[in-house]
Amino acid sequence: MITFEAVTKRYPDGTVAVDSLDLDVPDGRVMVLVGPSGCGKTTTLRMINRLVEPTAGRVLIDGRNVADSDPSKLRRGIGYVIQQTGLFPHRTVEDNIATVPLLIGWKKASARARARELMDLVGLDPAALARRYPYQLSGGQQQRVGVARALAADPPVLLMDEPFSAVDPIVRAALQDELIRLQAELHKTVVLVTHDVEEAIKVGDLVAVFRPGGHLAQVDTPERLLGAPADDYVRDFVGFDRGIRRLSFFPAAGLDLATDTVLTAATTFADAITAGHRAGEPWLLVAGADGRPLGWAAVADLKAGSPAAALADAQLAPVGHTFRPDTDSLRAALDATILSRTERAVGVDASGRAIGTTSYERLRDAIRAAEDAAEAGAEMVRQTAGEAR
Ligand SMILES: Nc1ncnc2c1ncn2[C@@H]1O[C@H](COP(=O)(O)OP(=O)(O)OP(=O)(O)O)[C@@H](O)[C@H]1O
Ligand SMILES: [Mg+2]
Repeated sequence: MITFEAVTKRYPDGTVAVDSLDLDVPDGRVMVLVGPSGCGKTTTLRMINRLVEPTAGRVLIDGRNVADSDPSKLRRGIGYVIQQTGLFPHRTVEDNIATVPLLIGWKKASARARARELMDLVGLDPAALARRYPYQLSGGQQQRVGVARALAADPPVLLMDEPFSAVDPIVRAALQDELIRLQAELHKTVVLVTHDVEEAIKVGDLVAVFRPGGHLAQVDTPERLLGAPADDYVRDFVGFDRGIRRLSFFPAAGLDLATDTVLTAATTFADAITAGHRAGEPWLLVAGADGRPLGWAAVADLKAGSPAAALADAQLAPVGHTFRPDTDSLRAALDATILSRTERAVGVDASGRAIGTTSYERLRDAIRAAEDAAEAGAEMVRQTAGEAR
């Protein structure tokens, strides 16, 4: 646990970068500090490894005031990744990564072996890249080397200052996914600084929103930040489509799919029309013998055809987008539905078999239920916290 207790940083010119900050970073979690330029994020981060000393208050790691530890020893236990990677230009990739192990007295051969192991971990091919110099790598590869170097001594704490801001959006998304994957394996205590609220919501277990002057506006889970911003500042900061984005945190499993709208290709037009009327649905999903969706039949079209004909012979509209109720979110289900010409999307299982179909009404019910459940959960947390006090 990293704890900020009433921490203030006033720079010599009088600028108050951080103003009586109280913040807890739980072990094994990713805490993202986000806010506009100059609001004190970097200053906050650098007080953890004593690159900046607080003017007042204390920063504790596991209850120990960092001010009482030797700075270089402290920093060896804390990985630090910065925006422009800070790689040593005249050292090879493997020697960059091996920096801290060498510093703490590892033999060169074992430090390099560790470096190659870490290259694998962060998705770099050691055989191809270990002997290159930083300038011979792409921006994304350099960022990965920076992360590998920060992890080299297996520190429990990892500080990352805008680690992905120098790369294009696609590489950036890949690096974010990589961090999420790494963290699931390594369970470091991570403090990550970013300008980008999307990034904060994607990679953070908790997000601390700063306002100018080094004040905290809100610390919460990404879902709560989107669902219950503390004030207008946070509401504006998280953006206009927070309602939609919040649906990413609700599983599509909560959606009650229509199942009587899924028919086999052998079904006759007459039976299909009856099924359509019974379900109150203008569109029916036709599935092949293997259960995979083939396309949508319009009940109105079937009425114009021969009642004895089979759906296999019907004119079908394209399946459109599908989603997985067991693994996807309500946002994915909504998106698939919006993108579909039939205003309906197909839920499929792991082997691609159609399970059921959506509609706007069914989505609306699922969204309301999820929001009510989230509100009830938050209320329970508030009550429990109240009782504990
Ligand atoms: N060494 C310094 N001396 C004086 N003022 C400083 C110093 N370093 C930072 N500041 C000021 O402190 C405030 C907070 O700076 P900090 O670098 O922590 O912001 P930040 O949130 O990381 O901003 P950015 O998103 O632009 O990186 C700013 O007003 C900045 O100008
Ligand atoms: Mg900064």
